[in-house]
Amino acid sequence: MTVRRKKGWEIPEREATPEALFLDRRRVLKALGVSGAILAAPAALRFATDPAAERRGRMAAGKAANPAETPELVQAPRNPRYTLDRPLTEELLAISYNNFYEFGSHKGIFRAAQALVTDPWTIRIDGAVEKPFEIGFEDLLQKVALEERLYRHRCVEAWAMAVPWTGFPLKALVDLARPLGKAKYVRFQTFQNPEIAPGHREAYYPWPYTEGITVAEATNELAFLVTGAYGKTLPKQMGAPLRLALPWKYGFKSIKSIVRVSFLENRPKSFWEALQPREYGFWANVNPDVPHPRWSQAREKMLGTGKMIPTRLFNGYGAFVADLYKGLEGERLYT
Ligand code: MTE
Repeated sequence: MTVRRKKGWEIPEREATPEALFLDRRRVLKALGVSGAILAAPAALRFATDPAAERRGRMAAGKAANPAETPELVQAPRNPRYTLDRPLTEELLAISYNNFYEFGSHKGIFRAAQALVTDPWTIRIDGAVEKPFEIGFEDLLQKVALEERLYRHRCVEAWAMAVPWTGFPLKALVDLARPLGKAKYVRFQTFQNPEIAPGHREAYYPWPYTEGITVAEATNELAFLVTGAYGKTLPKQMGAPLRLALPWKYGFKSIKSIVRVSFLENRPKSFWEALQPREYGFWANVNPDVPHPRWSQAREKMLGTGKMIPTRLFNGYGAFVADLYKGLEGERLYT
């Protein structure tokens, strides 16, 4: 590991999920005014003795940062093609346990993220396209058909959730962009504004948050641009107004609050790859048999259940995506 500063999700296996969950719960409990003595107790004991406080904490978090329902998103029909092998993650937990480094390197960024102004929101499409253009988020919504999909999400930190996302296939945006034949990659970038996002004041990070996939991946039917979750407008902490969901890849590829989509001839470098190339690569496809350099990826902890379950190759989506990687066996497909 070349970088010495320890990040929230760059932690040893023994600590990966439990510590993150512990810190988040600690924050929620603190916000509720739960005393230092209770906080100092061992985590297992604390939650064994006071599960109601944990639940109240989540409820408080959710109320603080849960958007009201919006009729047009609630009406998006569920696409039955995408099914789950596990129950949905409780909404209030999914929206109060987040990675969004722009607002802090911990899981409890839901309050800080409310500073993000999502209306108006403009997305720039450029690079190797017939004609670069900008489009307002509301105008983009007029050009696509929204649907709901139930997707699994597997974070590289070995926690997982199952979420009903509302959105539209990324392919619809690619079609609008009209990329030239020479475009082989799609790069996504998040907003950058140090006035509202404290993370942007940390020069150590290679802002803006950037991700990239191939055009072939972007036009795969699973690649989804998300505008809502749980039948509501996407909460800011989950990447409003527009984020990616690439359920066969580790969660860091699912970039939030997208402002720019560029079509490129050469492979872009992502945020985490720029920071830690040995640990985070371009492809980042989920594979239980390829450990992270510092922890196993064999199992994952489902948020809210405390259960460790086996991780599946391509997060269980191999039937949709395995063919994308034929002939690429020489690449680091799973980091
Ligand atoms: N996008 C941006 N812009 N900034 C981030 O820090 N974190 C990534 C991804 N997208 C991140 C991001 C990581 S590591 C994960 S696991 C998911 O967002 C978390 O999504 P969630 O908070 O909705 O669960």
